[in-house]
Amino acid sequence: MERYEADIVVVGGGPGGYVASIKAAQEGMKVVCVEKEALLGGTCLRVGCIPTKALLETSLRFYEAKKVFHEHGIAFGDISIDLKKAMKRKERIVNTLAGGISQLFKKNKITRLKGQAKIVSPSEVVIDEGTVVQARHILIATGSKPAGLPFAKFGKRINTSDEALAYEECPKHLVVIGAGAVGLELGMIWNRLGAKVTVLEVMDRILLGFDFDMTKKALKAFEAQGIEIRLGAKVLAVHEDDEKALVEVEGQEPIQCDRVLVAVGRAPNTDGLGCEEVGITKDKKGFIVVEKGYKTNVGGIFAVGDVIGGLMLAHKAMEEGVMCINGLLGKFAELNYDAIPKVCYTEPEVAGVGKTEEELKAENREYKVGRFPFRANGRAHTMGYIDGEVKVLADAKSDKLLGMHMVGPRASELIALGGMALEFGASSEDIAMLCEPHPTLEEAIKEACLAVASKTIHL
Ligand code: NAI
Repeated sequence: MERYEADIVVVGGGPGGYVASIKAAQEGMKVVCVEKEALLGGTCLRVGCIPTKALLETSLRFYEAKKVFHEHGIAFGDISIDLKKAMKRKERIVNTLAGGISQLFKKNKITRLKGQAKIVSPSEVVIDEGTVVQARHILIATGSKPAGLPFAKFGKRINTSDEALAYEECPKHLVVIGAGAVGLELGMIWNRLGAKVTVLEVMDRILLGFDFDMTKKALKAFEAQGIEIRLGAKVLAVHEDDEKALVEVEGQEPIQCDRVLVAVGRAPNTDGLGCEEVGITKDKKGFIVVEKGYKTNVGGIFAVGDVIGGLMLAHKAMEEGVMCINGLLGKFAELNYDAIPKVCYTEPEVAGVGKTEEELKAENREYKVGRFPFRANGRAHTMGYIDGEVKVLADAKSDKLLGMHMVGPRASELIALGGMALEFGASSEDIAMLCEPHPTLEEAIKEACLAVASKTIHL
């Protein structure tokens, strides 16, 4: 039986775990990272953010070639998509990036062990019931898995996002349950590639957690692209056989389709981890409960990322990993949860950081609003993407920025400016005084901040 000794054993090689491993190694710790999959990178890299974005790029190009290029005067014959090739490209990207993490592990002298880890004591982890790792600290970063519905058993046609990222053929009719980021991004990919897509959302809105105004605009844009979105649609049951799937919706005709994607959130990965045996406290939904410094209730054991709940985002997990290691070393370890951007990478993209308008209303905060539409932005016109707007929320008295939200081109990149402004405690006037390069989409942010004081130049 092999034995390893380390300062810290990190369980999980996803964004939370691999970043914490690198950070710990950089700080001089002896690190062992255990990951059960062959590739490092976790859900985000293997079956989440990265492959989704790869297919979003492919499908956007296909869609543009069919519907948009002619506006630029670009013409060619029949357009087709070789799905096998597109999937290979996606896999190549995943493998390249996973290989990059392995290289970083080598560079930082991190020992990577492959297998299923079980915590057997506050300082001991056993891998695949064989190898033992003894460590002063244990960090759990085991992430999450797609949540299921009791009345929709996963099968050949009833799928999670894992399968929907690897369909060998474009579905004829894809029904998506859940209008969160997973459902909408994947729905958009297959819609662009030729599937009829019906999204069923039980609530009366899409993209819960994003600013409502932005999501209303996004909803219209998605529908204009031919995606059917039914709000207030309560799914009662889903059946499948070899030929088809059938989705029963309260008060509606059953929907027959060939694929169903269940995208109703994610559940923590703690099966077989040993939490019960060592007495780690979990909440009602099974997420590991942590206090300041990402400490669990068991001394020496820490947890970060999706497995502790909250925003289930790769970048949140990465920063928690860093802060957890900082905390262990007695350094500054406070993550500013108000400055974590959220993004949905559809077209238009939806992004936000800080408080939404609904949250400010619920808190009875006095605030000012500034808006600027992309149709008044020069760069947006040259790109051919003029739908959407930037909206900023600032404190009514101090003018301090409280939130920034947007729907439109490259919102995923633009929102970084909002995150930085919130982190640095900027006012809307501070941002309005920035000299932005022209022509760029960033100018819409500056103008939205000018709009807080009703001083826009280009509107
Ligand atoms: P989600 O929780 O964001 O959205 C799920 C949606 O399903 C909700 O709107 C909910 O009302 C709806 N729903 C739940 N039960 C339903 C039912 N029985 N019938 C119809 N609708 C139902 O979950 P999602 O989209 O699966 O994402 C999981 C996590 O991953 C989220 O935290 C999300 O933020 C994150 N993520 C982030 C991405 C990004 O940053 N671009 C991309 C993908 C996921």
